[in-house]
Amino acid sequence: MKNTIILGIESSCDETSVAVLKNGREILSNVINSQIKIHEIYGGVVPEIASRNHVEVINQVTKQALNEANITWKNIDAIACAYGPGLVGALLVGVSYAKALSFALDRPLIGVNHIEGHIAANYIAHMELEPPFICLVISGGHTHLVYVKDYTKFEILGKTRDDAIGEAFDKVARIVGLGYPGGPKVDKLALDGKAIIKLPKTHFDNLDFSFSGLKTAVLNLYHKEPNINKADLCASFEKVATEVLVENTLKAAKQLNVSQIALAGGVSANSYIRKEFIKLEEEYGIHVYYPEIALCTDNAAMIAAARIL
Ligand code: KG4
Ligand code: ZN
Repeated sequence: MKNTIILGIESSCDETSVAVLKNGREILSNVINSQIKIHEIYGGVVPEIASRNHVEVINQVTKQALNEANITWKNIDAIACAYGPGLVGALLVGVSYAKALSFALDRPLIGVNHIEGHIAANYIAHMELEPPFICLVISGGHTHLVYVKDYTKFEILGKTRDDAIGEAFDKVARIVGLGYPGGPKVDKLALDGKAIIKLPKTHFDNLDFSFSGLKTAVLNLYHKEPNINKADLCASFEKVATEVLVENTLKAAKQLNVSQIALAGGVSANSYIRKEFIKLEEEYGIHVYYPEIALCTDNAAMIAAARIL
Protein backbone atom coordinates (compact mmCIF):
# COMPACT_ATOMS: atom_id res chain seq x y z
CA MET A 1 0.00 0.00 0.00
CA LYS A 2 1.27 3.47 -0.87
CA ASN A 3 2.13 5.70 2.06
CA THR A 4 -0.03 8.80 2.36
CA ILE A 5 1.69 12.07 3.15
CA ILE A 6 -0.47 14.75 4.78
CA LEU A 7 0.66 18.31 5.35
CA GLY A 8 -1.05 19.77 8.45
CA ILE A 9 -1.47 23.49 9.11
CA GLU A 10 -2.47 25.10 12.43
CA SER A 11 -2.84 28.86 13.03
CA SER A 12 -5.85 29.24 15.30
CA CYS A 13 -4.20 31.24 18.08
CA ASP A 14 -0.58 32.14 18.78
CA GLU A 15 1.26 29.18 17.27
CA THR A 16 2.07 28.90 13.58
CA SER A 17 2.60 25.22 13.04
CA VAL A 18 3.11 23.02 9.99
CA ALA A 19 3.59 19.25 10.17
CA VAL A 20 4.16 16.36 7.80
CA LEU A 21 2.60 13.02 8.75
CA LYS A 22 2.92 9.62 7.12
CA ASN A 23 -0.34 7.66 7.06
CA GLY A 24 -1.84 10.07 9.57
CA ARG A 25 0.09 8.62 12.49
CA GLU A 26 3.83 8.90 12.01
CA ILE A 27 5.27 12.38 12.50
CA LEU A 28 7.95 13.20 9.92
CA SER A 29 8.09 16.82 11.11
CA ASN A 30 6.08 19.08 13.40
CA VAL A 31 7.43 22.64 13.32
CA ILE A 32 5.89 25.00 15.88
CA ASN A 33 6.64 28.72 15.82
CA SER A 34 5.32 30.08 19.10
CA GLN A 35 4.48 33.77 19.51
CA ILE A 36 4.56 33.61 23.32
CA LYS A 37 7.49 36.05 23.58
CA ILE A 38 5.66 38.60 21.39
CA HIS A 39 2.45 38.56 23.45
CA GLU A 40 4.11 38.25 26.85
CA ILE A 41 4.33 42.02 27.44
CA TYR A 42 0.57 42.38 26.89
CA GLY A 43 -0.26 39.62 29.37
CA GLY A 44 -2.24 37.68 26.77
CA VAL A 45 -2.68 37.08 23.03
CA VAL A 46 -3.41 40.21 20.96
CA PRO A 47 -5.43 38.90 17.98
CA GLU A 48 -4.27 41.47 15.40
CA ILE A 49 -0.60 40.95 16.27
CA ALA A 50 -1.11 37.19 16.15
CA SER A 51 -2.55 37.36 12.61
CA ARG A 52 0.29 39.52 11.33
CA ASN A 53 2.88 37.23 12.81
CA HIS A 54 1.28 34.17 11.20
CA VAL A 55 1.53 35.93 7.80
CA GLU A 56 5.20 36.73 8.38
CA VAL A 57 6.32 33.21 9.31
CA ILE A 58 3.98 30.68 7.67
CA ASN A 59 6.00 30.30 4.48
CA GLN A 60 9.24 29.74 6.38
CA VAL A 61 7.62 27.34 8.84
CA THR A 62 6.22 25.31 5.94
CA LYS A 63 9.58 25.11 4.18
CA GLN A 64 11.22 23.99 7.42
CA ALA A 65 8.55 21.30 7.88
CA LEU A 66 9.22 19.97 4.34
CA ASN A 67 13.00 20.04 4.91
CA GLU A 68 12.81 18.24 8.25
CA ALA A 69 10.51 15.60 6.75
CA ASN A 70 12.87 15.31 3.80
CA ILE A 71 10.09 15.68 1.23
CA THR A 72 9.25 18.09 -1.60
CA TRP A 73 5.93 19.69 -2.59
CA LYS A 74 5.16 16.89 -5.03
CA ASN A 75 5.24 14.26 -2.26
CA ILE A 76 2.23 15.83 -0.52
CA ASP A 77 -1.02 13.88 -1.03
CA ALA A 78 -3.38 16.17 0.89
CA ILE A 79 -3.44 19.31 3.00
CA ALA A 80 -5.26 19.39 6.34
CA CYS A 81 -5.92 22.74 7.95
CA ALA A 82 -7.60 23.90 11.17
CA TYR A 83 -10.60 26.05 10.19
CA GLY A 84 -11.94 26.85 13.69
CA PRO A 85 -12.72 27.50 16.46
CA GLY A 86 -10.09 30.13 17.13
CA LEU A 87 -9.16 33.74 16.37
CA VAL A 88 -10.76 34.58 13.02
CA GLY A 89 -7.87 36.65 11.65
CA ALA A 90 -5.32 34.07 12.75
CA LEU A 91 -7.30 31.16 11.25
CA LEU A 92 -7.70 33.07 7.99
CA VAL A 93 -3.93 33.04 7.46
CA GLY A 94 -3.63 29.24 7.74
CA VAL A 95 -6.80 28.59 5.75
CA SER A 96 -5.80 30.97 2.91
CA TYR A 97 -2.33 29.45 2.77
CA ALA A 98 -3.78 25.92 2.74
CA LYS A 99 -6.26 26.83 -0.01
CA ALA A 100 -3.50 28.31 -2.15
CA LEU A 101 -1.36 25.20 -1.69
CA SER A 102 -4.27 22.91 -2.48
CA PHE A 103 -4.97 24.84 -5.69
CA ALA A 104 -1.34 25.12 -6.77
CA LEU A 105 -0.48 21.46 -6.03
CA ASP A 106 -3.88 20.14 -7.15
CA ARG A 107 -4.30 18.17 -3.92
CA PRO A 108 -7.41 17.84 -1.70
CA LEU A 109 -7.92 20.29 1.15
CA ILE A 110 -9.30 18.88 4.40
CA GLY A 111 -10.82 21.29 6.92
CA VAL A 112 -10.26 20.09 10.48
CA ASN A 113 -12.04 21.32 13.59
CA HIS A 114 -9.36 22.43 16.05
CA ILE A 115 -10.95 20.51 18.95
CA GLU A 116 -11.06 17.34 16.83
CA GLY A 117 -7.36 17.94 16.24
CA HIS A 118 -6.64 18.02 19.97
CA ILE A 119 -8.49 14.71 20.36
CA ALA A 120 -6.52 13.18 17.45
CA ALA A 121 -3.20 13.98 19.18
CA ASN A 122 -3.98 10.92 21.29
CA TYR A 123 -3.96 8.65 18.21
CA ILE A 124 -0.39 9.68 17.42
CA ALA A 125 0.73 9.12 20.99
CA HIS A 126 -1.18 5.85 21.49
CA MET A 127 -1.43 3.73 18.36
CA GLU A 128 -3.63 1.24 20.22
CA LEU A 129 -6.32 3.80 21.08
CA GLU A 130 -9.56 3.33 19.16
CA PRO A 131 -13.03 4.83 19.68
CA PRO A 132 -15.30 4.70 21.59
CA PHE A 133 -13.79 6.74 24.41
CA ILE A 134 -14.49 9.86 26.44
CA CYS A 135 -12.18 12.77 25.74
CA LEU A 136 -11.78 15.73 28.07
CA VAL A 137 -10.55 18.62 25.94
CA ILE A 138 -9.06 21.24 28.22
CA SER A 139 -7.28 24.23 26.73
CA GLY A 140 -7.04 28.00 26.77
CA GLY A 141 -10.22 28.33 24.75
CA HIS A 142 -12.21 25.19 25.50
CA THR A 143 -13.41 22.87 28.23
CA HIS A 144 -15.36 20.14 26.45
CA LEU A 145 -16.31 16.68 27.58
CA VAL A 146 -16.67 14.75 24.33
CA TYR A 147 -17.96 11.26 23.60
CA VAL A 148 -15.80 10.05 20.73
CA LYS A 149 -18.13 7.46 19.18
CA ASP A 150 -15.98 6.96 16.11
CA TYR A 151 -13.05 8.71 14.42
CA THR A 152 -15.32 11.42 13.01
CA LYS A 153 -18.44 11.01 15.18
CA PHE A 154 -18.60 13.11 18.32
CA GLU A 155 -21.15 14.06 20.93
CA ILE A 156 -20.53 16.95 23.32
CA LEU A 157 -21.58 15.75 26.77
CA GLY A 158 -20.70 18.87 28.70
CA LYS A 159 -18.81 22.14 28.41
CA THR A 160 -17.95 25.23 30.36
CA ARG A 161 -20.70 27.76 30.91
CA ASP A 162 -18.21 30.60 31.35
CA ASP A 163 -14.39 30.55 31.41
CA ALA A 164 -12.33 27.81 29.82
CA ILE A 165 -10.12 26.02 32.34
CA GLY A 166 -6.94 27.34 30.65
CA GLU A 167 -8.28 30.89 30.94
CA ALA A 168 -8.74 30.31 34.67
CA PHE A 169 -5.16 29.00 34.99
CA ASP A 170 -3.83 32.01 33.08
CA LYS A 171 -5.90 34.41 35.20
CA VAL A 172 -4.77 32.87 38.50
CA ALA A 173 -1.15 33.17 37.32
CA ARG A 174 -1.75 36.82 36.51
CA ILE A 175 -3.41 37.50 39.87
CA VAL A 176 -0.46 36.13 41.83
CA GLY A 177 2.06 37.80 39.49
CA LEU A 178 3.45 34.79 37.62
CA GLY A 179 2.94 36.26 34.14
CA TYR A 180 1.83 34.79 30.82
CA PRO A 181 1.26 32.02 29.83
CA GLY A 182 0.24 31.10 33.29
CA GLY A 183 -0.71 27.43 33.13
CA PRO A 184 2.82 25.96 33.21
CA LYS A 185 3.85 28.49 35.90
CA VAL A 186 0.92 27.64 38.18
CA ASP A 187 1.71 23.95 37.61
CA LYS A 188 5.32 24.45 38.73
CA LEU A 189 4.60 26.67 41.74
CA ALA A 190 1.80 24.41 42.97
CA LEU A 191 4.32 21.59 43.37
CA ASP A 192 5.82 23.57 46.29
CA GLY A 193 2.45 24.22 47.94
CA LYS A 194 -0.23 22.45 49.93
CA ALA A 195 -3.89 22.46 48.90
CA ILE A 196 -5.08 23.77 52.28
CA ILE A 197 -7.03 26.87 51.22
CA LYS A 198 -10.77 26.42 50.90
CA LEU A 199 -12.11 27.51 47.52
CA PRO A 200 -15.60 27.12 45.98
CA LYS A 201 -16.47 24.30 43.61
CA THR A 202 -19.31 24.64 41.09
CA HIS A 203 -21.47 21.65 40.21
CA PHE A 204 -24.37 21.30 37.83
CA ASP A 205 -26.94 18.54 37.42
CA ASN A 206 -25.55 17.79 33.99
CA LEU A 207 -21.92 17.46 32.86
CA ASP A 208 -21.22 21.18 32.38
CA PHE A 209 -18.40 23.09 34.06
CA SER A 210 -17.92 26.58 35.47
CA PHE A 211 -14.64 28.15 36.50
CA SER A 212 -15.41 31.88 36.81
CA GLY A 213 -16.53 31.58 40.46
CA LEU A 214 -13.33 29.77 41.38
CA LYS A 215 -11.23 32.34 39.52
CA THR A 216 -13.03 35.23 41.24
CA ALA A 217 -12.61 33.57 44.64
CA VAL A 218 -8.84 33.42 44.07
CA LEU A 219 -8.87 37.08 43.02
CA ASN A 220 -10.86 38.23 46.07
CA LEU A 221 -8.78 36.18 48.46
CA TYR A 222 -5.52 37.51 47.04
CA HIS A 223 -6.74 41.12 47.32
CA LYS A 224 -7.82 40.52 50.92
CA GLU A 225 -4.63 38.69 51.88
CA PRO A 226 -1.78 39.82 49.58
CA ASN A 227 0.75 37.95 51.74
CA ILE A 228 -1.03 34.64 51.31
CA ASN A 229 1.25 31.73 50.39
CA LYS A 230 1.12 31.76 46.57
CA ALA A 231 2.20 28.14 46.22
CA ASP A 232 -0.62 27.02 48.55
CA LEU A 233 -3.09 29.16 46.62
CA CYS A 234 -2.02 27.65 43.28
CA ALA A 235 -2.14 24.11 44.72
CA SER A 236 -5.62 24.74 46.19
CA PHE A 237 -6.89 26.19 42.91
CA GLU A 238 -5.53 23.20 40.97
CA LYS A 239 -7.10 20.75 43.41
CA VAL A 240 -10.62 22.23 43.20
CA ALA A 241 -10.48 22.67 39.41
CA THR A 242 -9.19 19.11 38.94
CA GLU A 243 -11.82 17.58 41.24
CA VAL A 244 -14.61 18.87 38.98
CA LEU A 245 -12.81 17.68 35.84
CA VAL A 246 -12.31 14.19 37.27
CA GLU A 247 -15.83 13.91 38.74
CA ASN A 248 -17.60 14.89 35.51
CA THR A 249 -15.39 12.70 33.32
CA LEU A 250 -15.87 9.70 35.57
CA LYS A 251 -19.62 10.30 35.69
CA ALA A 252 -19.71 10.36 31.87
CA ALA A 253 -17.65 7.16 31.63
CA LYS A 254 -20.00 5.39 34.02
CA GLN A 255 -23.15 6.67 32.29
CA LEU A 256 -21.93 5.51 28.89
CA ASN A 257 -20.19 2.40 30.17
CA VAL A 258 -16.93 3.43 28.52
CA SER A 259 -13.62 2.24 29.94
CA GLN A 260 -11.23 4.56 28.08
CA ILE A 261 -10.64 8.21 28.90
CA ALA A 262 -8.34 10.52 26.95
CA LEU A 263 -7.12 13.98 27.90
CA ALA A 264 -6.37 16.60 25.26
CA GLY A 265 -5.48 20.30 24.92
CA GLY A 266 -2.85 22.51 26.51
CA VAL A 267 -4.10 22.11 30.08
CA SER A 268 -3.72 18.33 29.85
CA ALA A 269 0.02 19.02 30.12
CA ASN A 270 -0.64 19.82 33.79
CA SER A 271 1.20 17.40 36.08
CA TYR A 272 -1.38 17.42 38.90
CA ILE A 273 -4.30 16.83 36.51
CA ARG A 274 -2.46 13.91 34.89
CA LYS A 275 -1.67 12.41 38.29
CA GLU A 276 -5.27 12.63 39.47
CA PHE A 277 -6.64 11.07 36.27
CA ILE A 278 -4.14 8.23 36.40
CA LYS A 279 -5.65 7.26 39.77
CA LEU A 280 -8.80 6.22 37.88
CA GLU A 281 -6.83 3.36 36.33
CA GLU A 282 -6.32 1.66 39.69
CA GLU A 283 -9.58 2.69 41.31
CA TYR A 284 -11.94 1.93 38.42
CA GLY A 285 -9.93 -0.03 35.85
CA ILE A 286 -10.34 2.79 33.34
CA HIS A 287 -7.49 3.30 30.85
CA VAL A 288 -6.32 6.91 30.85
CA TYR A 289 -4.51 8.31 27.81
CA TYR A 290 -2.83 11.64 27.23
CA PRO A 291 -0.39 12.84 24.60
CA GLU A 292 3.18 13.93 25.28
CA ILE A 293 3.38 17.60 26.26
CA ALA A 294 4.44 18.89 22.81
CA LEU A 295 1.28 17.32 21.35
CA CYS A 296 -1.02 18.70 24.09
CA THR A 297 -0.56 22.36 23.19
CA ASP A 298 -1.42 23.66 19.71
CA ASN A 299 0.47 21.93 16.91
CA ALA A 300 -0.13 20.92 13.30
CA ALA A 301 0.61 17.20 13.72
CA MET A 302 -2.69 16.78 15.56
CA ILE A 303 -4.51 18.51 12.68
CA ALA A 304 -2.94 16.16 10.12
CA ALA A 305 -3.81 13.16 12.32
CA ALA A 306 -7.51 14.03 12.51
CA ARG A 307 -8.28 12.45 9.11
CA ILE A 308 -6.87 9.32 7.59
CA LEU A 309 -7.32 9.16 3.83
O1 KG4 B 1 -4.33 23.92 23.57
P1 KG4 B 1 -3.62 25.20 23.78
O2 KG4 B 1 -2.18 25.30 23.36
O3 KG4 B 1 -4.36 26.37 23.05
C1 KG4 B 1 -5.75 26.47 22.94
O4 KG4 B 1 -6.33 25.79 22.07
O5 KG4 B 1 -6.31 27.22 23.77
O6 KG4 B 1 -3.78 25.55 25.34
C2 KG4 B 1 -3.20 26.67 25.91
C3 KG4 B 1 -3.58 26.69 27.38
C4 KG4 B 1 -3.13 27.96 28.10
O7 KG4 B 1 -4.21 28.44 28.87
C5 KG4 B 1 -1.98 27.48 28.97
O8 KG4 B 1 -1.82 28.25 30.14
C6 KG4 B 1 -2.44 26.07 29.29
O9 KG4 B 1 -2.96 25.60 28.06
N1 KG4 B 1 -1.36 25.19 29.78
C7 KG4 B 1 -1.33 24.66 31.02
C8 KG4 B 1 -0.13 23.93 31.13
N2 KG4 B 1 0.55 24.03 29.93
C9 KG4 B 1 -0.24 24.81 29.11
N3 KG4 B 1 -2.21 24.75 32.04
C10 KG4 B 1 -1.90 24.11 33.18
N4 KG4 B 1 -0.76 23.41 33.37
C11 KG4 B 1 0.15 23.28 32.38
N5 KG4 B 1 1.27 22.59 32.58
ZN1 ZN C 1 -5.87 24.34 21.09
